[in-house]
Amino acid sequence: MSKRVLVVGQGGREHALVWKLAQSPEVKKVYSAPGNPGIAELAECVDIAANDIEKLVAFAKEKDISLTVVGPEVPLMEGIADRFQQENLLVFGPTKEAARLEGSKVFSKDLFKKYGIPTASYETFCSPYEARVYARFFTDEGKSIVIKADGLAAGKGVIIANTFEEADQAIESIMKDKQFGSAGDRIVVEEFLEGEELSFFAISDGTNFVSIMAAQDHKRVFDFDEGPNTGGMGAYVNPPVYTDTLKEQIIREVIQPTIHAMQQEGCPYQGVLYAGLMLTEEGPKVLEYNARFGDPETQVLMPMIEGDLFPILEAAAVGDLTNTEVGVKSGSCVCVVLASGGYPGPFEKGKEIQGLQSLESDILVFQAGTCEKDGKLLTNGGRVLAVVAGGETIKSATERVYREVEKVHFDGMHYRRDIARRALN
Ligand code: AMP
Ligand code: GLY
Repeated sequence: MSKRVLVVGQGGREHALVWKLAQSPEVKKVYSAPGNPGIAELAECVDIAANDIEKLVAFAKEKDISLTVVGPEVPLMEGIADRFQQENLLVFGPTKEAARLEGSKVFSKDLFKKYGIPTASYETFCSPYEARVYARFFTDEGKSIVIKADGLAAGKGVIIANTFEEADQAIESIMKDKQFGSAGDRIVVEEFLEGEELSFFAISDGTNFVSIMAAQDHKRVFDFDEGPNTGGMGAYVNPPVYTDTLKEQIIREVIQPTIHAMQQEGCPYQGVLYAGLMLTEEGPKVLEYNARFGDPETQVLMPMIEGDLFPILEAAAVGDLTNTEVGVKSGSCVCVVLASGGYPGPFEKGKEIQGLQSLESDILVFQAGTCEKDGKLLTNGGRVLAVVAGGETIKSATERVYREVEKVHFDGMHYRRDIARRALN
């Protein structure tokens, strides 16, 4: 009970990480920068933005932080891990070069090709003209095509085009109108894959890894996967498609080769390897990698981890995961995100959140877009909070979570009513 931990970020993912780390027998105190009102119940929040790297370095030194855990991708891509390492501060998360696995679709796709990691067939382009010609090959055959901005685009840089006109428009808006700024200087145009999606999480120390669990996110805003994409409207762990055989296949064909590839490229990967997979008829294929924990997947992963998370993250940061194992609880866990009216489009803030006191005691609430004013908890973002319930089965966890969600209210609140539905059918 001697360690101080700093969790960087302010969303539901960071609330779940703080919740888990605060239970560690090794951890004396958790800080969060900047945190949120939910996190403030478990940790000391400090008013430093997640990407203010120099201030975070100074804070970690001043407070003698044993381990800094980075939640969001932006500070990773801006080199937070590199700066902490330069200062001999222990940090969980990949360096800037290694974080290109998420930060550059061109880098990651070229890596997959070079090392034979299964992924959708693709080409990369610096010019809209050639991109159009390539897209036409597919659309002329009546096939859909996927257009991806190379860089980070806040989850909006992927456009699925069903016709040539849609492809043309996407290429135009990314490359000519610079909808995502310089993130669209280069694009990837790739084959549309059919299947079920799966998020797979592993933790690597650069050489070794431990697998955590798999989960399914629900990206579209409305039931039955309709409407625009969001940050994620709900998740549940270990869906029925995720068998032991599939797990072994993902490790053998995707995770191990990726860790090997990153070593070969001279940028060993330390941190969370979050593979976004499409389970196709030909086997799992990588849609993308993320260099961090998922949100809202973390809200269901953390309650399912048996025992202490701190030594696992510390061992990865130190570079020695060889003797580490991750225990997973039996049963399941389901999370439903409650969002502001209008999200993922424009929405109002400042609505009072009511009913949290009436939830059953073993229900978890992880806050994201909230703030406190005059003793009231108010909405302050698109995804406001997540309600999380465990159960012996996915079915019982789902039933429980929806019973509890009904007790919560704020003006304009909306949520999906079909989280985990696929698993129940
Ligand atoms: P990404 O950010 O690359 O994971 O893409 C966001 C979402 O777009 C994914 O979760 C998928 O639903 C979809 N997507 C991306 N690439 C493809 C693809 N090649 N085929 C089908 N859907 C895709
Ligand atoms: N759950 C999607 C993401 O974290 O990117």
